[in-house]
Amino acid sequence: MPSTPTVARPDDVPPDGSDPRCIPHKLTAPLPVGDACVYPAYTPEEQDVWRTLYARLAQLLPGRAADEFLTGLAALDLDHDKIPALAEVSRRLARATGWRIARTPGLLDAHDFFGYLAQRIFPCTDYIRSRRELEYTPAPDCFHDIFGHTPMIMHPRFADFYQKIGQAALACRDPALEEGLTRIYWFTVEFGLVQNPSGLRIFGNGIISSSGETLHSLTPKVEKRRFVPELTARQPYDIWHFQDVLWVVDSFDQLESDFVRWAKSHGLL
Ligand SMILES: [Fe+2]
Repeated sequence: MPSTPTVARPDDVPPDGSDPRCIPHKLTAPLPVGDACVYPAYTPEEQDVWRTLYARLAQLLPGRAADEFLTGLAALDLDHDKIPALAEVSRRLARATGWRIARTPGLLDAHDFFGYLAQRIFPCTDYIRSRRELEYTPAPDCFHDIFGHTPMIMHPRFADFYQKIGQAALACRDPALEEGLTRIYWFTVEFGLVQNPSGLRIFGNGIISSSGETLHSLTPKVEKRRFVPELTARQPYDIWHFQDVLWVVDSFDQLESDFVRWAKSHGLL
């Protein structure tokens, strides 16, 4: 199974596999978790990148991001003007859904990554992209991970679903099934849409992390299909371009219960 999908690449950026941030780490020792995550000595420039990204997204997301994402973001009460401490984010997640944060040096080997998810621990980077990469970064950074991923993990049903993805991935031995599971991950955690009472909204972080993809995803140029794991698992995706098909969950109850049904039908849970 490939490493966790990260962010959408704009159409004008060529693939570049040479970035060391894109090489998954195979762990030889456990990651620091929760209060063991030390706050780095960020430069004023790095803090300003966080401030800039936060301000940009805060303007874009109302009316586009899912109610559940915005509620989670508000409950996390992340600093707008400085990079949050992973230890503090971990404490807030733990109080809400029992999840914790581990500090990862970068992309993780898939088995290591899903092993942490299965234990309700989210591996999170603590470095931030450069100013040249405000719109796009080839690997996750702490803005992608903290701002983009942790708000949904504040939602109880999404939090349970996310753990079950990890458990199912660890149990998976069949490459074809792994591909289906990766597609389900991609089209939900990273590129999912949800039907909120007020309309179609984004909860996938691959979209939320990209202002271009955020604007593109809700247009009629993108075909929307109701999430059905058996069908979503068959839908190929292209990591280098904006998506032209996205899948919509009715609710996070539906997402979790349909995923569990699918995973059980394949002996993964
Ligand atoms: Fe991600």
